[in-house]
Amino acid sequence: EKDGYPSFMEKEINDQPDAVAATLLGRSDLEGKLTLDEMRIDPQVLKTINKIIVLACGTSAYAGQVAKYAIEHWCRIPTEVELSHEFRYRDPIVDENTLIVSISQSGETMDTLMAVRYAREQGAKTISICNTNGSTIPRESDAVLYTHAGPEIAVASTKAFLAQITATYLLGLYLAQLRGNLFQGQIKDILADLAKTPAKIAQVLANAAQIKDLALSMANTRTVLFLGRHVGYPVALEGALKLKELAYIHAEGFAAGELKHGPIALIEEGQPVFVVVPSPRGRDSLHAKVVSNIQEVRARGAMTIVIAEEGDESVREHAEHVFYIPETTTLLAPLLTTVPLQIFACALATAKGYDVDQPRNLAKSVTVE
Ligand code: BG6
Repeated sequence: EKDGYPSFMEKEINDQPDAVAATLLGRSDLEGKLTLDEMRIDPQVLKTINKIIVLACGTSAYAGQVAKYAIEHWCRIPTEVELSHEFRYRDPIVDENTLIVSISQSGETMDTLMAVRYAREQGAKTISICNTNGSTIPRESDAVLYTHAGPEIAVASTKAFLAQITATYLLGLYLAQLRGNLFQGQIKDILADLAKTPAKIAQVLANAAQIKDLALSMANTRTVLFLGRHVGYPVALEGALKLKELAYIHAEGFAAGELKHGPIALIEEGQPVFVVVPSPRGRDSLHAKVVSNIQEVRARGAMTIVIAEEGDESVREHAEHVFYIPETTTLLAPLLTTVPLQIFACALATAKGYDVDQPRNLAKSVTVE
């Protein structure tokens, strides 16, 4: 069942090109027109939505954070992301013009189920992004968009995460199509970029040895920081979570711009810092800002490990280690930049002799509140 891999986690990390491809399959035609069969909410109703709230826990919540950037950019619908267990207890503003998008691999996470039930009671429309056919959350939602990652056995999520991000892109493009926020040609171009990501993920996986070697050399590390901006921020959070879950190493992810407002005080000689660098071809001088963040931590002694786009030579002089990912657009980059961080956490945990499939204290789906 592990297809010759030493763990389900390694198998599932390597399944990711297929997980993303399967999630994209059959959802658009050659003109780029999306038809989401399981989207059982009346299109007229979806046109009147004036707010989206994404609800999820753990890794799935980080997929939701990526979704916020894409959906707001493409659809111009205000989008919040909230942890399911916080949502219900704060008297949130939810009505019939609110679209709830829950994200759950298992479809059984009690915190998320209760949040969805609460939102429905307030009259909201609910869509479930889920990896498990017929599970409770999709059954209790108005519509479902299944991720087709295949069964995920390892407790900590990997392939389901990339499939969830892919599904939220499809949802965002579908809403943009329906509401006329993007031209059909633009949607077609984005879908074409998406269709290229499985092969690009495979390229990242083919370079796994480089990141595994680094992980082996860091087996005695006690704390690791992860920085990112824009969609690289949730990727940094996910990189830190994987390291905590699998290798039991203290790790924190930060928005790189937040560094100077506090976390930079943590930097001392030798502190490992991963930095997720956006494409230099992207908008808004994001790239330059992140490069200066790398310089800031390095000037204080950090050991910098940089994930950057192929051809981005500007980062080399600021980094102890550089891992290159293939070119893609700013919004789609998490499908690639996450992968080296998963490989790193898995390899480091394996080097320490831990069971990466069944980390201590964790359960695959938490069915209590
Ligand atoms: C946790 C799992 O308990 O639940 C995580 O250990 C997962 O891996 C989180 O991300 C949310 O689970 P789900 O099934 O709702 O996506």
